[in-house]
Amino acid sequence: MGFVRNCWYAAAWSSEVQEQPYHARIIGEHILLFRGEEGQVIALSDTCPHRFAPLHMGKIVGDTIECPYHGLRFNAEGRCAHNPFDPKTKLLAVRISAYPVVERDRFIWIWMGDAERADPALIPDFPWLNQTDVYTMSGEQIMRQPLDYELVLDNLMDLTHGQFVHPTTLGNESIATGALKTRQEGTRVYSDRWNPDGDAPALFVLPGVVQAGDKVDYWNEMRWDPPGAYYLEVGVTLAGRPREEGHFLGSVHMLTPVDEENCVYRYLLFRTFQPGNDEVTRSLEELANYAFRSEDEPMIKAVQDRMAGRAFWDMKPVVLKTDHAGILVRRTLEKLKQMEMAD
Ligand code: FES
Ligand SMILES: [Fe+2]
Repeated sequence: MGFVRNCWYAAAWSSEVQEQPYHARIIGEHILLFRGEEGQVIALSDTCPHRFAPLHMGKIVGDTIECPYHGLRFNAEGRCAHNPFDPKTKLLAVRISAYPVVERDRFIWIWMGDAERADPALIPDFPWLNQTDVYTMSGEQIMRQPLDYELVLDNLMDLTHGQFVHPTTLGNESIATGALKTRQEGTRVYSDRWNPDGDAPALFVLPGVVQAGDKVDYWNEMRWDPPGAYYLEVGVTLAGRPREEGHFLGSVHMLTPVDEENCVYRYLLFRTFQPGNDEVTRSLEELANYAFRSEDEPMIKAVQDRMAGRAFWDMKPVVLKTDHAGILVRRTLEKLKQMEMAD
């Protein structure tokens, strides 16, 4: 399958990279993240070019990382800036890869491709994550999953599985009814469902946003940016009333491929209802954790095992109307990969 290189991957939550060197594996590469003296994030190859020690096991010295094996130090450009056995000679020609990084909207974004093409304007925006005065936030979550991230993209882009995979947790009939509109702008894909005048979903009845028996207009809107950045908003308002009078649960889902069979899934929920109510925050977190870990993950893993390494299109999947958005996502990724190969 291979990976797109010229794009911004979410390497970590900002909070994951603090005083200690941090190791991430992204599209098969071992990467070291650490903070320099000003708190700026530096991203380098995690493999020392001398005897290949993992640099994240070393220590941070100013704006450099000191290898834990024989003490060579590497600066933010990946150049060897200090040799303890010959301190007068800098081995500046010895160089490891340095990656462009940007810290924005609670994430550390890393560019895995051509450094000259790393344009921060291409980072998808998640402004909600900074608006702690407007929304009640749940905690930053991390799941390490034994899954090919493209199968997780399929899963998130087609929420009709909710009725079957999450019958008692996230599932509700509104997920698969109403009007579904899929559209693409550049490389961004939207999949928006609008279901007017339906029954109130349990997700909003339980925290008291609406009452059981109320008729509501329900929206469920997913936005995807390559390679794995999702924003999902699910909301209700009393039937016929403006959306602004209603409430919603927003969530960010960030998929980072570790290699072809593993990924890291980071997510966070935020909401407009029951502000500051810790009990509601906790129960939403528990619900999402259970649904993603104990319902989605085993299903996707079973699919992955059954595919046994065969390529998705080679298996000639049946295509349903509800697959439109998922297929746009797959096609967009393929196109990006092909463009890179043609370069
Ligand atoms: S392995 Fe890093 S200095 Fe020797
Ligand atoms: Fe799911």
